[in-house]
Parts: sequence; C-alpha cells; structure tokens
Amino acid sequence: MTRNFKEALKHRRTYYHISNSSPISDNEIKEIIDFAVENVPSAFNSQSTRVVLLLGQNHKRLWDITKETLKRIVSAEVFKGTEAKIDKSLAAGYGTILFFEDNAVVEQLQNSFPTYYDKFPIWAQQTSAMHQLAIWTMLEDAGLGASLQHYNPLIDETVCVEWHIDPKWELVAQMPFGAPTEQPGPKEIKPLNERVLVFK
Ligand SMILES: Cc1cc2nc3c(=O)[nH]c(=O)nc-3n(C[C@H](O)[C@H](O)[C@H](O)COP(=O)(O)O)c2cc1C
Repeated sequence: MTRNFKEALKHRRTYYHISNSSPISDNEIKEIIDFAVENVPSAFNSQSTRVVLLLGQNHKRLWDITKETLKRIVSAEVFKGTEAKIDKSLAAGYGTILFFEDNAVVEQLQNSFPTYYDKFPIWAQQTSAMHQLAIWTMLEDAGLGASLQHYNPLIDETVCVEWHIDPKWELVAQMPFGAPTEQPGPKEIKPLNERVLVFK
C-alpha cells in the first residue's frame, strides 16, 4: 500500500462518479482481492468468503441483469431513477466485485458446533464485511473509486446461472469500481463522545 493503514482507512470513500478505466492492471486488481482473501480473519478460521471479479462484458452483464430484474418488479416511474443510477454510477465503472458467503461452510460449522448454531450465519456476514472494507480500502489506495451495493437477493438466481456459481454461495454485496471522475462530498461525522466510551 502507498498510504499507511490509518491514512488509507481515512481516504476510503463511496464513489458514485467513476469511469470505465483503471490506473492499475487487471492482475493488480486480482492481487488486491487475493491479499484480502488470504489475510482477513473469519470465525473459527472458516474462510467462508468467496469473491468473484467481473471485468469487461461480465461487469456490463451484471448491471444489465440488475436492470432487467428491477424493471420487472418496480413501477416505470421508480425504474427511471434506478436505471439512471445504474447507468451513470455503477455500470459506468471498470469492474464489479461480487462478495459471497459459502453456506456449505456455514452449515458444516453449525453441525460441528451446535452451541453456536445461530451465530455462524452472523459471523459469516461479519467476515464478509471485513473483506469488503479491506478490498474497498486497498482499491482506493491504488487510485480506484468504489461503492457498495445490495441488489441481492433480487439478482441472486440470475447471477448464479450466468456465472455458474455454486448455489450454496450466497450473494452478500456488489462493489462496482473504476477511476474516479469526481470526488465525494464532505460527510457528517457524529461526535465521538456519543459513540466511544472509555473506563479506566
Ligand atoms: C453495510 C453497508 C451497507 C451499504 N449499502 C449501500 C448500498 O446498498 N448502496 C449504496 O449506494 N451505498 C451503500 N453503503 C455505503 C454507505 O452509504 C456509505 O459508506 C456511507 O454513507 C458513508 O460514506 P463513505 O463511504 O463515503 O464514507 C453501505 C455501507 C455499508 C457499510
């Protein structure tokens, strides 16, 4: 990483204005994902996170699938806004990263450790979120802008069929990214004294 951890964490933002180009190679994008997948922790070291990198026509296809799905279920009026957001902000990017959790791993843990039965799906979501943050931060550090989207579960079935994804893999989030064309605006940060307590 170019920045140290604190600087990189502070710089990570949501980018809705991105272009279909990348300052780094496809291999370097893959290396960022590999690095996170190897080093991010998971409950019981279960390593249940699965990641799919969609580039080129695959990236475009994901957003076509999303639009086709939404068009069938929302009103024409609502769809106009959704279509504009997808075309301008999400599909306009260079690629999309799909985050999945492997429910085969979750179920195996539930069977092996019934005491924590209810916890394993929650911990799977938590490890997914840790992967998302790590990748989001490293993409930004490499000069890419990304956002986090949740069109699951609406698109799950079509995505599974399109890319022959194991049906046990559950889609958790979609992260479109590309070279930033506009910086995000300032964001409100709530007072720390309402959110952090120290007792000593
Ligand atoms: C768990 C989680 C879910 C989110 N879901 C979405 C989403 O579905 N669509 C979206 O545009 N942004 C989503 N975001 C992005 C947040 O809106 C954004 O991170 C927040 O407003 C802070 O802005 P920043 O990312 O620029 O720091 C999500 C963020 C988190 C952490």
